[in-house]
Amino acid sequence: MKSFKDKVAAITGAASGMGRTLAVELARRGCHLALSDVNETELVRTAELASQHGVRVTLRKLDVADRAAVFAWADEVVRDHGRVNLVFNNAGVALTVPVEHAKISDFEWIMGINFWGVVHGTQAFLPHLRASGDGHIVNTSSLFGLMAIPTQGTYNATKFAVRGFTEALRMELEMEGACVSATCVHPGGIATNIAMAGKVDPAMEKLTGATIEQHKRRANKMISTTTAESAALQILTAVERNARRVLVGPDAKFLDKLVRLLGSTYQALVIRQMRKLNSRKPR
Ligand SMILES: NC(=O)c1ccc[n+]([C@@H]2O[C@H](COP(=O)([O-])OP(=O)(O)OC[C@H]3O[C@@H](n4cnc5c(N)ncnc54)[C@H](O)[C@@H]3O)[C@@H](O)[C@H]2O)c1
Repeated sequence: MKSFKDKVAAITGAASGMGRTLAVELARRGCHLALSDVNETELVRTAELASQHGVRVTLRKLDVADRAAVFAWADEVVRDHGRVNLVFNNAGVALTVPVEHAKISDFEWIMGINFWGVVHGTQAFLPHLRASGDGHIVNTSSLFGLMAIPTQGTYNATKFAVRGFTEALRMELEMEGACVSATCVHPGGIATNIAMAGKVDPAMEKLTGATIEQHKRRANKMISTTTAESAALQILTAVERNARRVLVGPDAKFLDKLVRLLGSTYQALVIRQMRKLNSRKPR
């Protein structure tokens, strides 16, 4: 997609972080917006920020794990805006728990949002994107969709799944010569609300001696490499270039290279780093 001017973009998880900065940057470039999130109060704030750029903005309180609601929203977006050109399947949550302690309900919760949310958004919007004649699907995976990390097995499972799903979709669309394309987004650490809003299983306290609050603060510090504003710019550049994959931030670019260079041996390096981190006194 060469330009976002006068296009219509639907964004999930638009109340915070990258969803919000994507909305504001797209609005600045003249793109009309259909925004959704479970957090209605903060969604209204995003809409206020985006509306300052004179574009049409519609809102929907929406849980991406709710398949029927996502399909109904896609139809509503087309009714309200006349068409839709882009969908950003961005909504996501974090969970820190070792695999052994993860309950099936934990897997179902995070899969419902991070993976099924992306599937719902892709399938609900694809027919409408085709009808627009110029469409793009932007699915958010993670650096943790390229490498695994201890205590992130549930999150890793969702983000590896998003990557496989999106890469297959992209190839299918390209083989067909479709007017719709797809990009998989792999952010490294981005300064957003995700760590503080995420869940940390109580098992982590026993295993590490650090409190849940300390775990969240530590994770929050670790993801402060790139601003959400810069992440939005990098993602939109990738869409303009029709990139298959975008690595967002220097940490994502570096670690992607390292994992490809080392193969599965990267795990030994991760273990060493994690041991070092866990031996530090929690603050
Ligand atoms: N921040 C990072 O370091 C980082 C790194 C890699 C990938 N990501 C991914 O980027 C995406 C955006 O996250 P962010 O960092 O901007 O986080 P964020 O917490 O700031 O924003 C996520 C938004 O998703 C919304 N949300 C949560 N559950 C939802 C649901 N069931 N339905 C609809 N909306 C829901 C939240 O209310 C929030 O507004 C996520 O998919 C996340 O996994 C983030």
